[in-house]
Amino acid sequence: MADDTLVGSLFPDEVLSAEAIPEVRRADLYDEEWNCVARAVPKRQAEFCAVRICARRLLARLGFFDYPLLPNKDRSPRWPEGIIGSISHTNGYCAVVAAKAGALVGLGLDVEQDSPLKPELIRLICTERERNWLDNQPESDRCRLAKLIFCAKESAYKCQYPLSKAFVDFKQAELYLDLETRKFRAIILKDLGERLSPCLSISGRYDWRRSLVIASAFLRKEEIAKS
Ligand SMILES: CC(C)(COP(=O)(O)OP(=O)(O)OC[C@H]1O[C@@H](n2cnc3c(N)ncnc32)[C@H](O)[C@@H]1OP(=O)(O)O)[C@@H](O)C(=O)NCCC(=O)NCCS
Repeated sequence: MADDTLVGSLFPDEVLSAEAIPEVRRADLYDEEWNCVARAVPKRQAEFCAVRICARRLLARLGFFDYPLLPNKDRSPRWPEGIIGSISHTNGYCAVVAAKAGALVGLGLDVEQDSPLKPELIRLICTERERNWLDNQPESDRCRLAKLIFCAKESAYKCQYPLSKAFVDFKQAELYLDLETRKFRAIILKDLGERLSPCLSISGRYDWRRSLVIASAFLRKEEIAKS
C-alpha cells in the first residue's frame, strides 16, 4: 500500500514516498551532501536538507544505510545502483519517491504551487495541440490547466532523464490529459537514442492536494524497449 503522504497514492504500490517541510538541518547531512549547498541561500539549503533526509529514510527501507545522495554534474540525483527515484520541492513542501528498479524502470515527481500559469508562458510550455485543447476548456480553468501541463511535463522529464540523459524541451513532449481519471500520457517527440523506443510514452497521474498540484510519472520495463 502507498505511504501516507500527499504524493504516495499517485504512484504504483511498490513506490515508497516521504515528505517534509523545508528546514536547514546541517547536522543531519553527510559532509559531502552539505558541501553541495554550503554557499547556497538558506531557502536552497532548507530544500536540499529536507529531501536528503527524506531520501535517507527511503533508502534505509530499501536496504541502503550509509548512502549520501549527491547530485550528478547535470543536477540529477545519483541514486544507488538498482534504485530509481525522484525529488521535488516547492515553497513549504518537499517530497521524494524511490523504489527498487524491476518492473518499473523510471520515476518522476513534480510538485508545484496550485496557481495559474502566466498566460505569456503558455506558448513556451504547450504544443499547438495542447493550446487547442486548452482553448476548448472553460476560460476560467485554462491557466490552471496550463500549470498542470507544465507540472506533468516536468515529472515526465525527470522520469526519462536517468535512462536517456537527454534534455527534452517542453515543446518536444505532447501531453494527453484525462480530466475524469486524473491520468495522463506524455509522448516524447524527440529521439531519445538507441535504448529507448521512438515516441516514448510515459504514464502519469496527477491531483490537486492542499494548495499544490502534483504529478507522478512512471515507466514500466516493457514500455521502454525499442521494438
Ligand atoms: C530539472 C527540472 C525538471 C527540475 O524541476 P523544478 O520544478 O525546477 O524543480 P523541482 O524542485 O521540482 O526538482 C528539483 C529536483 O529535481 C532533480 N533533478 C534535477 N535535474 C534532474 C534531471 N535532469 N533528471 C531528473 N531529476 C533531476 C534534483 O533532485 C532536484 O533536487 P535537488 O537539486 O535538491 O537534488 C527543471 O528545472 C528543468 O530543467 N526542466 C526543463 C526540461 C523539462 O521539464 N522538459 C519537459 C518536457 S519532457
